[in-house]
Amino acid sequence: MKHKFYLLFLAAFMLLGLQCTAMAAAQTAKPNIVILATGGTIAGSAASDTATTGYKAGALGIDQLINAVPEIKNYANITGEQICSIDSKDMTNDIWIKLADRVNALLAKPNVDGVVITHGTDTLEETAFFLNLVVNSNKPVVMVGAMRPATAISADGPMNLLDAVRVAADKAAFGKGVLVVMNDEINGARDVTKTNTTNVATFKSPGFGVLGYINGGVPEFYQQSLRRHTVNSEFRGEHLTSLPDVKVVYGTANDDSLFIDAAIKAGVKGIVYAGTGNGSIHKNAEKALAKASAQGIVVVRCSRVGSGAVVPAEASYAKEHFIDSDTLNPQKARILLQLALTKTHNLSAIQKMFKEY
Ligand code: SIN
Repeated sequence: MKHKFYLLFLAAFMLLGLQCTAMAAAQTAKPNIVILATGGTIAGSAASDTATTGYKAGALGIDQLINAVPEIKNYANITGEQICSIDSKDMTNDIWIKLADRVNALLAKPNVDGVVITHGTDTLEETAFFLNLVVNSNKPVVMVGAMRPATAISADGPMNLLDAVRVAADKAAFGKGVLVVMNDEINGARDVTKTNTTNVATFKSPGFGVLGYINGGVPEFYQQSLRRHTVNSEFRGEHLTSLPDVKVVYGTANDDSLFIDAAIKAGVKGIVYAGTGNGSIHKNAEKALAKASAQGIVVVRCSRVGSGAVVPAEASYAKEHFIDSDTLNPQKARILLQLALTKTHNLSAIQKMFKEY
């Protein structure tokens, strides 16, 4: 009897020990983060360590990027994949679709906890906003770039990559939509934009501000976007094969309708007009846009100003069925219109999307 009791006690003790070890392992287990590389200055190589222009973007591969910052492995189990190796000025719809499909496939796996995407800064905000609308997961998706090539003295890429992994590995990054991490700051995909041609402090969210900072190596969030994204987006998980042709036309003094006429002739499905002020349209351009609208081309009024909402203005704009872009900049309004046109041509439904996303 005494012997039996002793065995029972021993078994219970061992079970408890096993449970504690499992719990401790779960608590200390590092998340699994996949880094998807697309090119850009973060992977750029120059002829000299003082050259910060005139270098080759996307020259280094994913393994070189990972090996350059071994510290990232302190925060996560890292694997890498090369999606493409481009200067992001050459981004295409096909690469967006390939990237979105890969991000969705990876995040659907229970053993992937987040994705970091290395990207050129020139169109980073566009890719970020596209993914913000089509990714079907709450798990962190963090985009990162650099303004100085990897070969430069004081290159910003390594610290930015470390910070991106720190954010992707942080539970607080769940459900925040696609994030952009650079220069110690966390910005949201919807509102972030590149504001300086060469400075490392280029990414800002005009009118909204950062979502958070990397304070002494620790991500801290202070606010989040209320607009629909990722798992709350009607475009989430969509397997796209192409995107409708939507052009941006930039409004200036002395505007004529040359580019609008050309866009109509080319058979575009939508035109985003980057107007002056509150999406104001030169009278010559307005005539051409009214013609486009009458032919079923969706016209979105946007602004070239850089911050603030485009809201209803002239009565004629409403009569001509132009959509107001709210606070999206022209390059992001183009993406929302492209995705909107994969679902509907109903103008009220599209206007509603510009209020919700
Ligand atoms: C690029 O966008 O690929 C080049 C510029 C940069 O990454 O800063």
